Amino acid sequence: MEGDGSHMSSKTSPRRTTRKAHDRGNPHIGIAGVVGLGYVGLPLMVECARAGIQAVGFDTDPARRRMIRRGESPVEDIASEDLRPLVKSGIVSVAEDWSALRDVDAISICVPTPLRKSKEPDISFVTAAAESLKPHLRRGHLIILESTTYPGTTREIVLPILESTGLRVGKDFWLAFSPERVDPGNVEWPLSRIPKVIGGITPECTREAAAFYSRIFETVHPVSSAEAAEMAKLLENTFRAVNIGLVNEFALTCDRLGLDTWEVIKAAGTKPFGFMSFKPGPGLGGHCIPIDPQYLSWRMRLLNFTTRFIDLAEEVNSEMPRHAVLKMAMALNHQGKAISKTRVLVVGVAYKADVSDIRESPALDIIELLISHGAKLRYHDPLVPTLTVGEHTLKSSPLTAKTLRSFDAVMIVTPHTGIDHRLIIRSVPLVFDCRGVTAGMKGKNIFRL
Ligand SMILES: NC(=O)c1ccc[n+]([C@@H]2O[C@H](COP(=O)([O-])OP(=O)(O)OC[C@H]3O[C@@H](n4cnc5c(N)ncnc54)[C@H](O)[C@@H]3O)[C@@H](O)[C@H]2O)c1
Repeated sequence: MEGDGSHMSSKTSPRRTTRKAHDRGNPHIGIAGVVGLGYVGLPLMVECARAGIQAVGFDTDPARRRMIRRGESPVEDIASEDLRPLVKSGIVSVAEDWSALRDVDAISICVPTPLRKSKEPDISFVTAAAESLKPHLRRGHLIILESTTYPGTTREIVLPILESTGLRVGKDFWLAFSPERVDPGNVEWPLSRIPKVIGGITPECTREAAAFYSRIFETVHPVSSAEAAEMAKLLENTFRAVNIGLVNEFALTCDRLGLDTWEVIKAAGTKPFGFMSFKPGPGLGGHCIPIDPQYLSWRMRLLNFTTRFIDLAEEVNSEMPRHAVLKMAMALNHQGKAISKTRVLVVGVAYKADVSDIRESPALDIIELLISHGAKLRYHDPLVPTLTVGEHTLKSSPLTAKTLRSFDAVMIVTPHTGIDHRLIIRSVPLVFDCRGVTAGMKGKNIFRL
């Protein structure tokens, strides 16, 4: 963001709807600030506005700031038609510089927490956000870290930066961790209905954060420390990574036994208790499940403790793109075709259905593998118009009976709503389904993971 020292222009200046919290010495937040306006931050800002709380966003990406100011949403979960009136009325605004942080009462930090190439946590975005906040920290501020991270980040990384101002936590300002649980694309669980776990650096911090978030979320669940809240999020996502790893291993096992994985899962899923259905797939994707368990694994390595389930799940899950490509190559082989002489269409490249997010998407590995084996590759994804994989930049191909007929094989990687899988099956000599969308369908040209 530009110039720290200048004042906000009137177009970005938040209009106060209630008195500021620090004026009243109580937890009722007048203006909420959200730092990082992506899949997590923008929905949170909108949810604040829906709860009647003035919300000001901060983001280092000028293009994103301009876009949101125009009322255009960069994420699927927030429709531009819903965002525009909020921006127009002024209840949602985007600040041009960090000095606007002084005018807000609560600050939720929603910046990325990726992995470095070495698989170590990259918390530089969290550190940068805390450093940007530091010059503007004042008495009465409530800071809530939302970014998923390893236990200890809030206390060991964020707190020292904020306390280097001379202000003291629990006395001058409040600091808490509250993991974000938004599930992009999930219309059944709107953000405000997902319970919010909150753990403060001190009990007062927990109380302040819980009082604020209980105005936005239906349920808040306070825990005894920031570390417990950080760890709860890692348990949730490790639970998914490990169970997906288990079911992926089952898929590999069924494959060797000549059994239909999807039939087996469906049968096991009829048990009304004690079983939870997970589906195999071409590998993990997104900014959470493949990454978050690695944060914990890294933290525990520093304590000479090996997180064996996490490591094993990672090993199984990261082999799935290769397994999918190999299995499709074998199916092509049965049709007398070599993958190097084949035109292949990958359908769906986002990491999951109905989002445009391609971060960590297994489709990227699959495309790279197919290209490296000589396949003439195209892709179709209604939500991802262009895609760069290695040195290749591709454009989404249309999905019509005519275009489909020009392919030897289709690999269904991500099943977005609205994709006509039956048309694909009718038009292409070989369909390799990584997601079970064809489960139960019969056809000599259908092959499944
Ligand atoms: N995407 C999800 O489904 C999801 C779900 C739950 C939790 N999370 C966690 O939430 C956090 C944010 O994820 P996301 O998917 O919203 O990321 P995102 O990449 O969609 O958005 C992050 C935003 O932060 C901005 N940003 C980066 N550094 C900044 C800084 N120093 N100051 C201000 N803005 C900055 C970026 O420009 C971007 O707009 C991550 O820790 C992630 O693990 C994500």
